[in-house]
Amino acid sequence: MARLYGDNEDISSDKVKDFFNDRANREFDSDLSIVLFQDKENSEQRHAEEKKLLDEHINLSGKKVLEVGCGLGRWAEAVHDKCESFLGIDYSENLIEMANKSNKFDNCKFQVMSAFDIKEDELLIEPPFDVVIISGVLMYINDEDLLVLIDELNKVCAEDKKLFIMEPVSCMDVRLTLKDFYSEGLEADYNAIYRTPKEYLDAFENLNCNKIFSDDIFKDLSDHSETKYMYFVIE
Ligand SMILES: C[S@@+](CC[C@H](N)C(=O)[O-])C[C@H]1O[C@@H](n2cnc3c(N)ncnc32)[C@H](O)[C@@H]1O
Repeated sequence: MARLYGDNEDISSDKVKDFFNDRANREFDSDLSIVLFQDKENSEQRHAEEKKLLDEHINLSGKKVLEVGCGLGRWAEAVHDKCESFLGIDYSENLIEMANKSNKFDNCKFQVMSAFDIKEDELLIEPPFDVVIISGVLMYINDEDLLVLIDELNKVCAEDKKLFIMEPVSCMDVRLTLKDFYSEGLEADYNAIYRTPKEYLDAFENLNCNKIFSDDIFKDLSDHSETKYMYFVIE
């Protein structure tokens, strides 16, 4: 049960997976609450705002899209008619089962796979991918594994790839790590890393890209003083 400031302390990836597998079995007013906010209206607003942002920043026409940590697959519905194909990977078996059950699109596929163990030969859509979407996932990945993921993305993506990444970050000078921290809002023990924006920018330098644009989002949806939401467009 800890709220750690500044320490680069690892969290348990297995516990995060159990947390999301468990949420997939819980009843919410909206399925979006499984992966976004507890509250249905806030989740719907966030979903709509994120789709608009992606539209503004990334042209998906003719592109192969990879989503890392796709959850129940909400992005497929948003991008299927704009891109050539979409592959969502996630290590939560329950969420991928939900994504596959609700998938209505021939050009979209989902599969169980860990973000830091991407098996290039087993991907259901053949690389290279032109666009990568990552939303609220890197906060569950430890520093060492984040670098493994970046290395894997460099291997499975085209040279001129674009990445659209949204993550909650620390508003403080140091990162905040929640380790087995009981969250009253989520009614469960919670594990997550709120890195500083600089820590993300430093890590993204390894993506072999030339340009990183970043800004705050959902200012009116976040009621935490220590964290905020940011998005990064990397190309
Ligand atoms: C907050 S949810 C966001 C889901 C989705 N990206 C979205 O925006 O709707 C975080 C997701 O990341 C997935 N995840 C966390 N760590 C992962 C890992 N190491 N490999 C694959 N998926 C992971 C979880 O299973 C969960 O579906």
